[in-house]
This record gives sequence, structure tokens and C-alpha cells, in this order.
Amino acid sequence: MAQDSITKIAYNTLQQGKSIAGLAHKEISSKLMNLLSPDEKLNDFNIDKNLLLDIQKSMGKLREEDWNDAENNIYPLKLLFDEPWLRYLTQYPKLWLDMPNTWERRKKQKNNDLPKSIEKENYPNYYLRNFHHQTDGYLSDFSASIYDLQVEILFNGTANPMRRRIIKPLKTGLLNFNNRKRSSIKILDVATGSGRTLKQLRGAFPKEKIIGLDLSDSYLKEASRHISSLEGDLIELIKGNAEELPFEDNSFQGVSCVYLFHELPRTVRENVLKEFIRILEPGGTLVLADSIQIKDSPEFLSIMEGFYKNFHEPFYCDYIKDDIDNKMKEIGFKEVSSQSFFMTKVWSAVK
Ligand SMILES: C[S@@+](CC[C@H](N)C(=O)[O-])C[C@H]1O[C@@H](n2cnc3c(N)ncnc32)[C@H](O)[C@@H]1O
Repeated sequence: MAQDSITKIAYNTLQQGKSIAGLAHKEISSKLMNLLSPDEKLNDFNIDKNLLLDIQKSMGKLREEDWNDAENNIYPLKLLFDEPWLRYLTQYPKLWLDMPNTWERRKKQKNNDLPKSIEKENYPNYYLRNFHHQTDGYLSDFSASIYDLQVEILFNGTANPMRRRIIKPLKTGLLNFNNRKRSSIKILDVATGSGRTLKQLRGAFPKEKIIGLDLSDSYLKEASRHISSLEGDLIELIKGNAEELPFEDNSFQGVSCVYLFHELPRTVRENVLKEFIRILEPGGTLVLADSIQIKDSPEFLSIMEGFYKNFHEPFYCDYIKDDIDNKMKEIGFKEVSSQSFFMTKVWSAVK
């Protein structure tokens, strides 16, 4: 009992420390940008007292949820402390060195500044851009090497607690296949990026077969680095497009997808949902996590607006208004439900 309380204090302290570090980085870097590369087009973003209170309350609820799920054995407690500190430390100087390039791209609205070597015909048009002014978009090893740290800073250290919100609904959904051997259950993580969700999934599903898919070779290489030392069966990584998944109909019992939908045009979101339902076996579960939306989180509207006004996120403004619940039902998903956790909304649905 006492041990539990100490571990919980350690977890809360860790999360609060990450939050302070993220806020401090953002404060210093935006001051520096205003000094060295001022941009009048940037939306001034002031957090008032009420918003700050809402943020703190919502972050507190997220931590509580994360802790409770670990305590209830939805996933192992050690996942709560699993961060690649050394990697962050070595990548951090790269963020600073790269910052002037990001500012320049933002100022000049240069959003298609991609490596010359890429073969553009291999990628959909919407993908060929510098999402959030990121150097090389998703198309270089450099971009993949600093992505995790950037996301951690963006979310003030809450990225993994938010990603872990997909685990409980997925575990509940997979009970539909309780009579099968766990090693025969297949879970696909679409747009797996650098593999952080895969790591959370492997912690919660040690025996199931897990596959990660992404369009970027560089991000898949980074994912491979993250997951190669994990216990359990090797996680398979596949290069592919979410709009044309290279799998047979009814071949998965679980599909997850984290932080992809806000970067897709509306028609592509629909195509991807149709692919998810196609590859899921009847009774299989989809868990989708992405940004919060206006209708459930109106108190955070200014944060959502700041995101698409200040970063290159051309599909986000449409995403936050898109009725994804309804779209899921229209294409045939059942038991559609959704819940928001701090900056992330999680949907679950059954085929
Ligand atoms: C914002 S990142 C999210 C990565 C990861 N799921 C996470 O939680 O950090 C978006 C990812 O989607 C991938 N992506 C974008 N469009 C895709 C598509 N049509 N098919 C597969 N992956 C795609 C990108 O390469 C990138 O790795």
C-alpha cells in the first residue's frame, strides 16, 4: 500500500516535471523567435486564468485515468515510467539547431520544402508537405529522429498517457475473441510513426501478434529502433498506405490508429475508415485516437485555433468539426463511442 502511494507520487511528479519542462521550452523558444525572427502573422496566444485552470484539471484527470488503468492491470505499471531519457537528451540540441529553419519556413509559408531525393509519385499529394513546418516533412531520418521529442514538448509530456487511452477499449473489444489463443489475435497499428504506440500496445498485449504500418521509411526505421529490444514476439513493420491497406478482408481482430486523422483531408479520412472496416473481422474493434474536437471540448477552442493558425496543419480546421462518430456508423461500424482525455479524443467501434 505504502509502496503504491510512493509510486503514485513518483508518477505524478514525473508528469508534472515533464509538463514544466515542455512549457519552459515553449516559452523560451517563442521569446527567441520573436526576437530573432518576428512574424506578425502569428496568432498571439495568451492563456488566461480560466483556461489555465481547465488545462490543469484536465491534465490531472488524465494522470488519474492513466494511474488507475495501470493499477487495474490494464497495462503494466512500468509503462508509466518508460521514457527514452538518454535519447531525448541527445536529440534535444538538434531541436534548437533546427529551429531557425522552422521559423524561416513558417514565415515564408514554404510548406513543400522536402528532400530532393524523394520519389513524389510514391506518396499521396496531401502527404507531400511540411506538417507543423517540420524539416523534411515525414520524409527523412532527421525528421524521424526528433519527432518524439517534438510531440512530448507539444503535449507537455502527456503524449504517452494520451496514447495509452486506446488500450482499455481495445482490451474490452478483444474479449469478443476470448475463446481463441492469444497468439492468434492480430492487432494492426496504422500510421505507427516512430512506434511509440506499438511500445504501449506490446506492454498491454504481450502475446498477441502486433503489426505497425506507416508510409514513411524513415519513421519505420525509427520505430524499429524503439521496438527491437522489447520482450515478446517481434513486432512486424510494414510500409503501406492507410487508404489501400495491404491486407486481406477480415484479417485483424484489432486496429488502432493514433494522431493520423487530423492530417488527412475529409475524403481520405472516409477512405481510411472504409479500409479499417474491410480488414477487421466481424466482432473486431477499431480504436482511434486524435485531437479533441470542438463539440466535446469547447473550453479548449482557442488552443485548437492556435494550432492550425500557427502551425502548418491544413486539414485540422476541418477535422475539429468533422462528425467522425456519424461517419463510422454510416460505413457500418457498431457500438461507436468516444471520450476525450486532455488534448486527445478516443473513439472505439466494433465491426
Ligand atoms: C502525427 S504522426 C503520428 C504517428 C504515431 N501514430 C504517433 O502516435 O506518434 C502521423 C503519421 O502518419 C503517417 N501517415 C500519414 N499519412 C499516411 C497514410 N496515408 N498511410 C500510412 N501512414 C500515413 C506519417 O508518416 C506519420 O508517421
